[in-house]
Amino acid sequence: MNPYQYRNRELHVEDVPLARIAAAVGTPSYIYSRAALTEAYTAYAKAFEARDHLVCYAVKANSNLAILDLFARLGSGFDIVSGGELQRVLAAGGDPAKVVFSGVGKSADEIRAALEAGILCFNIESANELERVNRIAGELGMRAPISLRVNPDVDAGTHPYIATGLKQNKFGVAYADAPALYSRARSLPHVRIEGVDCHIGSQLTDLAPIAEALGKIADLVERLERDGIELKHVDVGGGVGIRYQSETPPPIPEYAEVVLQAFRNDRHKLLFEPGRVLAGNAGLLLTRIEYLKKGEDRSFAVVDAAMNDLVRPALYDAWHDVLTVTEENPAAAADVYDVVGPICETGDFLARGRRLNAREGDLLAIMSAGAYGMSMASNYNTRPRGAEVMVDGSEFQVIREREEVSDLIARERRLPS
Ligand code: LLP
Repeated sequence: MNPYQYRNRELHVEDVPLARIAAAVGTPSYIYSRAALTEAYTAYAKAFEARDHLVCYAVKANSNLAILDLFARLGSGFDIVSGGELQRVLAAGGDPAKVVFSGVGKSADEIRAALEAGILCFNIESANELERVNRIAGELGMRAPISLRVNPDVDAGTHPYIATGLKQNKFGVAYADAPALYSRARSLPHVRIEGVDCHIGSQLTDLAPIAEALGKIADLVERLERDGIELKHVDVGGGVGIRYQSETPPPIPEYAEVVLQAFRNDRHKLLFEPGRVLAGNAGLLLTRIEYLKKGEDRSFAVVDAAMNDLVRPALYDAWHDVLTVTEENPAAAADVYDVVGPICETGDFLARGRRLNAREGDLLAIMSAGAYGMSMASNYNTRPRGAEVMVDGSEFQVIREREEVSDLIARERRLPS
């Protein structure tokens, strides 16, 4: 489905014109489609319905409580990477028994909180973390459920900052070390082996490295079973990529075929940690043009959103489509603009070299911003973060109020006199 349509030349999200939201809530704001989120989740779950499985939405992609609430109601579990994300899941009504905890740097406090909450599994990323989890679980008189996150040393072919499954990356334990670490885990009194986990990167558009990594994991599972180590689940990590521009990410059913093929010979429950594919194309960033500025070399559309609101273009040189909220007349003259924010950095751009027929005061929609948009936003230049809005049919609701500067400075103190 495409929740974004022009009707009477006005861009709508579902049945709500974006101009109406801008008038009520202001800009910059993130706008999400409940129908698109629901459809993305349902498509994922449906692709694996023949097999015992659990989708654990990767909270980092978009951690707004309303979004977590929606996925929890759809039956989702959650992949978390911090104690903060655990608190969000709990505050949103998520089931801790469906939570997996990934990340290379889990602190003692975070491990304790996750044990007390009763999470499904710790995805252990190093030998020393295994020892720490064992010790803390012992102090609490518990057995910690664990998987080892195994680094299969496969090149996912994605942006180097978000490739995670190569041996030079900080993630997971080396493939060759995994059998010995599982033996160690089995000997520890306060851990309980639940499964195996892997994750090779994000914005995956090619199935071949996924198949290669999962083949290695399937071989490892077989080897572990021969060693007498019983597993209950296999966690295959994050989801596939999305289309931002002209990428051709694999359709979910084709991805499912690869996963199901890799694990056709075993009966383990399959766990998934998709983030971007569930939320990315279900949201946009709505912004208003403050100034059109004709430079000597190029022209700029200076908008009220900036790299602090959406850092992906600055950080990964990522492409986001830019649509005018009032449909352009294809016959009208258009100029080529860099769409930039007010922040004092040349890297503060949302899009470059875009043909736009736009005037000052017009609204623009920065598309495909539902994942890793608001969740990576900052307050750089003391810019309050924008509002977040959920559209549901012909209604919309603010799911995060716009910040005020007083929120930003509330914890700061002047020097004593
Ligand atoms: N599981 C683990 C352990 C992860 O590290 C990640 C993402 C996911 C699941 C979810 O992956 P996804 O389904 O979204 O591909 N900020 C970057 C993306 C960073 C992803 C990091 N890990 C971006 O804006 O492109």
